[in-house]
Amino acid sequence: MGYHAEYEASLQDPESYWLKAAEAIDWDVAPTQALFERGNHMYEWFADARVNTCYNAIDRHVENGRADQAAIIYDSPITGTKSSITYAQLQTRVAALAGGLAAKGVRKGDRVIIYMPMVPEALEAMLACARIGAVHSVVFGGFAANELAVRIDDCTPKAIIAASCGLEPNRVVAYKPLIDGAIELASHTPEFTVILQRDQHPCDLGANDVDWHNFQKGTAPAPCVPVEGTHPAYILYTSGTTGAPKGVVRPTAGHLVALNWTMKNIYDVDPGDVFWAASDVGWVVGHSYICYAPLIHGNTTVVFEGKPVGTPDASTFWRVISEHNVRSFFTAPTAIRAVKRDDPEGKLAAGFDLSGLRALYLAGERADPDTIEWAQQLLGKPVYDHWWQTETGYTIAGNPAGLEALPVKIGSPTVPMPGYDVQILDDAGHPLPAGELGAIVVKLPLPPGTLPTLWNAEERFKKSYLTAFPGFYETGDAGMIDEDGYLYIMARTDDVINVAGHRLSTGGMEEVLAGHKDVAECAVIGVTDQLKGQMPVGFMCLNTASGRVHAEVVAECVKRVRDRIGPVAAFKLAVVVDRLPKTRSGKILRATMVKIADSEAYKMPATIDDPAILDEIKVALKTIGYAKD
Ligand code: COA
Ligand code: AMP
Repeated sequence: MGYHAEYEASLQDPESYWLKAAEAIDWDVAPTQALFERGNHMYEWFADARVNTCYNAIDRHVENGRADQAAIIYDSPITGTKSSITYAQLQTRVAALAGGLAAKGVRKGDRVIIYMPMVPEALEAMLACARIGAVHSVVFGGFAANELAVRIDDCTPKAIIAASCGLEPNRVVAYKPLIDGAIELASHTPEFTVILQRDQHPCDLGANDVDWHNFQKGTAPAPCVPVEGTHPAYILYTSGTTGAPKGVVRPTAGHLVALNWTMKNIYDVDPGDVFWAASDVGWVVGHSYICYAPLIHGNTTVVFEGKPVGTPDASTFWRVISEHNVRSFFTAPTAIRAVKRDDPEGKLAAGFDLSGLRALYLAGERADPDTIEWAQQLLGKPVYDHWWQTETGYTIAGNPAGLEALPVKIGSPTVPMPGYDVQILDDAGHPLPAGELGAIVVKLPLPPGTLPTLWNAEERFKKSYLTAFPGFYETGDAGMIDEDGYLYIMARTDDVINVAGHRLSTGGMEEVLAGHKDVAECAVIGVTDQLKGQMPVGFMCLNTASGRVHAEVVAECVKRVRDRIGPVAAFKLAVVVDRLPKTRSGKILRATMVKIADSEAYKMPATIDDPAILDEIKVALKTIGYAKD
């Protein structure tokens, strides 16, 4: 079957379509039914099945002839380390860690926060939780203690699993002070923290801390615990309009079925092939394509600890691809832009044999045509943009290369994947014809593996995704579909921005700025950036009585965002202004400010009727070095 037949089949008869896909999973109790309608536009998949994710990702491969195949290749230019772990070794290590957790009382349904850098142990921690039915929540290492505390209070973990440090090119990131700070800030206190000591920066253990290796000693390896198909595999927090992150819940069975389907049909790899997603386990790409999907499908996954440039140079990607014979490679456009910036002619790729590579996949942010064309020319291979979200866990629209490679149209992530009935609606909820821009929505039900709800926040789930367009899931992206059915993603419809492929909330940054004692009001907008796609810029009005030197307040605000949200917010551009442009009803015209900042000649949008404010914004942008004229 080609793409079109497969897509139609998935929408016409989802029940048969997904039950067939489910045959590739090893069940403890196989599903007899795929879709369960729960009323009020709420759905579940494979609710009557029982299954274990870790068994499907590790044990079944050990039993079926892959025991000696590498499951994980660890390549860490930042520490100068390379190693590999077979499926059999991974089984021993994960069962031992899971046994240690079980001996300390972690049970099915308990939450465990994982705060780790890109080391194989991060995957082992995720899989150990899955083995015993515990629900992990991985927190990206670039978030500050406060963000960790918010997540601790929301998912109330029994334990934290962490490393002593992460490594950035310019510094060692000591995790222990961040964890201690978070526990201090949080109302909920986890019972214990498991710490993986790293040679680069070991830490002192406190009363509730246990050493990764010591605490497993003398405990029995844990068997796989079968869980209900709807059991949460994990919670992953992501940014929304306000500062409070949303805990996206991933249902176990749908996750297994859907991810396994994507490996051949989208990424065109066969079991045994090496697959590499250069991302971080703290993001959804890392969950799905560094950890779960490649392992479920019997591939070898690469855990890469480093940056695309600078460690040692812009040849790193090409070296890793050739050295480990990577078949399909996935990263964010920003990483390719960084490589292109340092090696515009691609000279550094020349020394490497990239013949084993089949295609490059890009996602996480808009893929600009220059970057796609540059990569296509350099590699002589297809470059596939694909569009998805933390909420879905895998591709909404992409090029199903393993099923039927469709012609690439640069600027489009191609077509909706099976199960996703993507439509474009106007503000009133009416369908728009081909070529017209509107809200991108997906007709309910969403396919298996996508979020059924938000952790502890069913009402927020309904309000955020199901209310604006009844019967549809609101993606938060705007775009259009062309005559050939190709989708184009143009912009977000909320306050989410995308900085270096990292999803951030400008509302969250505004909350931090507004907490500064001298700030009366503020606006944070995302402006276009050549490397990172977008960069946040803060505009602050100070209290009249403040009398402070502006530069001092700016420096304090920049530090405040770094301390409260984390370095990953990349909040470095901020400026004090006298006023912010507003509507008559007092709403700040953020979208207009973005248009001004990104317009080459600072053209005056019609919405600003006071030219003095426009001048002020122009001067402010020049002050911070963001000048276009
Ligand atoms: N732990 C601690 N700090 C981290 C971190 C982590 N895991 N990841 C990033 N940071 C820090 C960086 O050190 C940087 O700090 P600085 O302000 O002191 O320089 C800051 O957060 C901003 O990071 P980033 O926006 O990533 O910028 P960068 O200059 O370090 O790197 C790229 C730029 C493009 C090379 C890098 O973003 C990259 O490789 N991106 C790939 C995209 C990706 O993985 N996306 C995930 C979704 S697919
Ligand atoms: P995240 O949940 O962090 O994966 O971010 C999801 C958001 O990133 C989407 O809603 C889009 O706004 C954006 N995004 C992801 N992939 C793409 C893409 N291929 N093209 C355009 N935007 C994308």
